[in-house]
Amino acid sequence: MCGIVGYIGREQAAPVLLEGLSRLEYRGYDSAGVAVFDAEAGTLAVHKAKGRLQVLSEQLHGGADLNSTMGVGHTRWATHGAPSDINSHPQVSHSGRIAVVHNGIIENYAELKAFLMAQGVPFTSETDTEVVAQLIEYFYEGDLLAAVGRVLRRIQGAYALGILCADCPDRIVAVRKDSPLILGYGEGCSLIASDVTAILGHTRRVGYMEDGELAVLTRESIQCYNHLMQPIEKKIVTVDWELDAAEKGGYEHFMFKEIMEQPDALRRCLSPRIREGDIMFEDLSLSQEFLQNMRRIYIVACGSSCHVGMVGKYHLERLTRIPVEVALGSEFRYMDPIVDRHTLVIVISQSGETLDTMAALREARRLGGRILSIVNVVGSSIARESNQVLYTWAGPEIAVATTKAYTTQLALLSLLALWMARRLGAVSGEEFQAALAAFQELPGKMEEVLSRRDSIQYLASRYFNHDSIFFIGRNLDYALGLEGSLKLKEISYIHSEAYAAGELKHGTISLIEDGTLVVALSTYGKLFSKAMSNVIEVKARGADVLSLTVESRGEEMRHTADGVMSIPDIHELLLPCLGVVPLQLFAYYVALMRGCDIDKPRNLAKSVTVE
Ligand code: M6R
Repeated sequence: MCGIVGYIGREQAAPVLLEGLSRLEYRGYDSAGVAVFDAEAGTLAVHKAKGRLQVLSEQLHGGADLNSTMGVGHTRWATHGAPSDINSHPQVSHSGRIAVVHNGIIENYAELKAFLMAQGVPFTSETDTEVVAQLIEYFYEGDLLAAVGRVLRRIQGAYALGILCADCPDRIVAVRKDSPLILGYGEGCSLIASDVTAILGHTRRVGYMEDGELAVLTRESIQCYNHLMQPIEKKIVTVDWELDAAEKGGYEHFMFKEIMEQPDALRRCLSPRIREGDIMFEDLSLSQEFLQNMRRIYIVACGSSCHVGMVGKYHLERLTRIPVEVALGSEFRYMDPIVDRHTLVIVISQSGETLDTMAALREARRLGGRILSIVNVVGSSIARESNQVLYTWAGPEIAVATTKAYTTQLALLSLLALWMARRLGAVSGEEFQAALAAFQELPGKMEEVLSRRDSIQYLASRYFNHDSIFFIGRNLDYALGLEGSLKLKEISYIHSEAYAAGELKHGTISLIEDGTLVVALSTYGKLFSKAMSNVIEVKARGADVLSLTVESRGEEMRHTADGVMSIPDIHELLLPCLGVVPLQLFAYYVALMRGCDIDKPRNLAKSVTVE
């Protein structure tokens, strides 16, 4: 959601900014803009356009038209004010001296705007961001940093800011509070960006800004300050993501590439942690005493990450007998959660920046809970604010619809459940070894499923015209259905709902009529016969049933369902992890056949950094 890039160096800035913004497109946006310092004129040149970045890029001939070596760029996901050229960022003060790009929301913007208007400051946009630009100008008396400092004492909300001043051709000022911003330390250049993929082409050396910090970027160095404006040293880390990991590499869509990358992502995630017949969580230090006194586990997350939590609840409760509650990040703070020092709070997030999840984490920490996060993006806010982090090591995920991050989160949470059960003496050595062996077989079995993707493509061609689809399943299959349904609706725009199969009779079955497509999930062997009864029930009402089951049950299911997708039999701990792959492929092919914008579905953002 919104992307920021800033560059100061010796190269032409605009092409660097446009290339960086193109790598942030996946975050979701509806307009784009850049501001550069025009050295000849001694002013800021600002260019903005509603719509795809391509529109702006064509207007600027790829940036070649703008002769400048410093600037900031932005992709905007509209909150305050409709998507339009005027509301796009950078937002500029009335004299044109200050330009600001912003990710986040200034909560008290209305009051500040009223104050400035009363002083005669004219406004042109509907955005909260313009208030920041105008306020900096209002306080500016020749010292940009001092003016920014005064503004920060007055604004409330979440913000990452990149600031240019026409009087300061040698610096960019950056600020962060509750919205991500990283610093890039290049050779003869300095950069800012919302995430690392935007600057990988220029440097791998990055620093993560903390809340309340400011940075002054020059061509030679970056000086950071804390909220008291005292200079601080920033730790520089070297990122090991490859640039081509964030490129399509011959695939038509990032989503398809990421689906196909899952076996390797799982190997990266699991292999270092399964050694010598044991689970090695070197990155984890939950003492035996804490585990034994643990009274409750919360799993907190949003969207697909929350679906991972639903599966995790079944596994953790079954294996450890400790009560587990799954909470949406957006609800947790308002439910008066029962958290104390004997509570483990597992926070799951691909991006590590989801605002609702982050707010839930902070609330859980305030209440005394122990925070363990499962995160993909190294150094992200959620990772840094947790007591413990397990990284999924899935590599950059660009498509808005999560796939490889989901399966690695799920595998890791399932491994954690097994590890806890073993530490608590709740599983025998034999059961433990059998489960461990299954984790090692998982990537290979997933390759098998992927190699049979043509059969899923065929099924998609039979069903892509439906306009309402129901997913049903029980227990693990219910949790799996939630994810299958979300995957389908977010990229194909088909109305779809997931139901616990037994619940169907309590209302929803009234919607089943001739030709309604029901995707019936029955991978969980213990409940297969119940699942079969539900298939018969909906068939009797005219539904077209597409089933997902395990190979050993495929034949049986083929007698009843109209179409069958199957996965190799595997330990129940890993059924949803393997079972989600045909559902991802089904959603992908359906969206493809409907001509949808698969990697960037309408209205969605990859990283949801507003409440
Ligand atoms: O980065 P996070 O895992 O915190 O994101 C949470 C959700 O926004 C995310 O899982 C979303 O539901 C996916 N786009 C679904 O594919």
